[in-house]
Amino acid sequence: MELSVLLFLAVLTGFLLLLTRGHPKATGHLPPGPRPLPFLGNLLQMDRRGLHRSFLRFQEKYGDVFTVYLGPRPVVVLCGTDSIREALLDQSENFSGRAPIATFDQTFQGYGVAFANGERWKELRRFSLTTMRDFGMGKRSIEERIQEEARCLVEELRKSQGALLDPTFFFHAITANIICAIIFGERFAYKDPEFLRLLHLFNQSFALVSSFSSQVFELYSSLLKHFPGTHRKVHKNLQEVNDFIGHTVEKHRETLDPNAPRDLIDTYLLRMDKEKSNPDSEFHHRNLILTGLSLFFGGTETTSTTIRYGFLIFLKYPQVAEKVYKEINQVIGPHRPPALDDRAKMPYTDAVIQEIQRFSDLLPFSLPRMVTKDTHFRGYFFPKGTEVYPILSSALHDPRYFEKPDDFYPEHFLDANGALKKNEAFFPFSLGKRNCLGEGIARMELFLFFTTILQHFSVASPVAPEDIDLTPRECGVGKLPPVYKLRFLTR
Ligand code: HEM
Ligand SMILES: *[C@@H]1O[C@H](CO)[C@@H](O)[C@H](O)[C@H]1NC(C)=O
Ligand SMILES: *[C@@H]1O[C@H](CO)[C@@H](O)[C@H](O)[C@H]1NC(C)=O
Repeated sequence: MELSVLLFLAVLTGFLLLLTRGHPKATGHLPPGPRPLPFLGNLLQMDRRGLHRSFLRFQEKYGDVFTVYLGPRPVVVLCGTDSIREALLDQSENFSGRAPIATFDQTFQGYGVAFANGERWKELRRFSLTTMRDFGMGKRSIEERIQEEARCLVEELRKSQGALLDPTFFFHAITANIICAIIFGERFAYKDPEFLRLLHLFNQSFALVSSFSSQVFELYSSLLKHFPGTHRKVHKNLQEVNDFIGHTVEKHRETLDPNAPRDLIDTYLLRMDKEKSNPDSEFHHRNLILTGLSLFFGGTETTSTTIRYGFLIFLKYPQVAEKVYKEINQVIGPHRPPALDDRAKMPYTDAVIQEIQRFSDLLPFSLPRMVTKDTHFRGYFFPKGTEVYPILSSALHDPRYFEKPDDFYPEHFLDANGALKKNEAFFPFSLGKRNCLGEGIARMELFLFFTTILQHFSVASPVAPEDIDLTPRECGVGKLPPVYKLRFLTR
């Protein structure tokens, strides 16, 4: 009800503006797209099912590059493999800006590595990458940490004795623990109430950010932000996570040893002290909290949602899971833990994991970009600051690159001899200077978690495979699988 009232208000405002002004004028020379109304933008041409469907529909009509008005503001949309590669790779620098996501904006406000721009982003990105590498390569490598976490999970799943369960929090917990070890220097027990609370906040926030009402908010946030709604709930949730990070930072401060930084927080605090006399330093408290949040949230929700979709796919296609298990058995056997070196000998498993990422299509529009400079692209002109949405989903489903774009088909990544085949349209972590910062870690996690779980368990569902529905529950910023339950049966 609240939403419809607000929409009505929006429509009313739109018509009032229509009477007083002409059509919205874009500066520069943006690609053609559906004709917008003042304030309302392209609302009336949108598909009711949301932004994703709307973009696909516009692509059919206007081609791979078009402009859409999300409410009052123009956004350049890039569809298809070629246009995205041309922008994000060939003009990596010009396209390296980040535009806000309305539902997150109250929380981040341009701070922290994921939503910063300019010098701030460069400093935080460099810092995050080096620090993550250092804390992965010390005494215990990230590989070992993931193996250890996978071992803990296997133990926990064994305790379930084949009971029917929702795996969401288990998958959240293992991915969160990898990133927690890097940021906070510790992992949490799966039953730790504070940890479960954080996982709950992430799970709920990601679903809310991806919901239909957040898509409406993306269009009319300048008006709707004054009213209660999803965005407030998300902000409240993430503030609670920030409070947790803040307390942890205080504890680190009290026990900080300048000669022995324990984790990312310690390293940051030392850097902060070093730059204390520089008033322009980006290493201040706010950037610490929001970089912590970017990594914690970004590192937990993404990989775990992919694993969750993966197991639903295994329930739907048990023969695929069995074939992966066969390969595990051949290459690794039942006794030793899977290691990253095994991947090169396991093309089928590798292809299945890539196909899970392609099919599950976690961030269909990637994260919004923005051009950092005046930019020429395919005969158009984008003034500095123009927002750009690279629709990764349209590359991952590009019929020019994938034989059966809408089916789950691991053979997309295999050649006739069963060897792994590269595909230019496969970039679920996006491309260029501003691509996913956690790609390396995520790929290690996906391989080690999937193989270790399948090494020890087969999975079963009370629902017959043909009745399992893979249709996403939410599809906005994120694409989420439906809620489901399964059994882990010891091999
Ligand atoms: C399957 C897992 C994952 C997927 C599919 C994924 C995907 C993405 C995508 C599409 C972007 C947008 C990049 C762009 O604008 O071009 C992104 C950004 C980002 N991701 Fe990931 N990600 C995953 C896992 C992770 C992990 C494990 C971490 C942390 C360790 C992480 C941290 C980040 C950060 C910090 C950014 C923002 C980077 C920046 O703005 O410079 N992600 N991710
Ligand atoms: C995750 O969030 C969704 C949406 O709020 C909810 O339906 C689901 O039950 C949650 N999962 C868990 C394990 O709490
Ligand atoms: C990228 O930005 C620079 C401005 O520094 C500009 O000179 C250049 O033309 C841009 N690239 C394109 C292809 O527009």
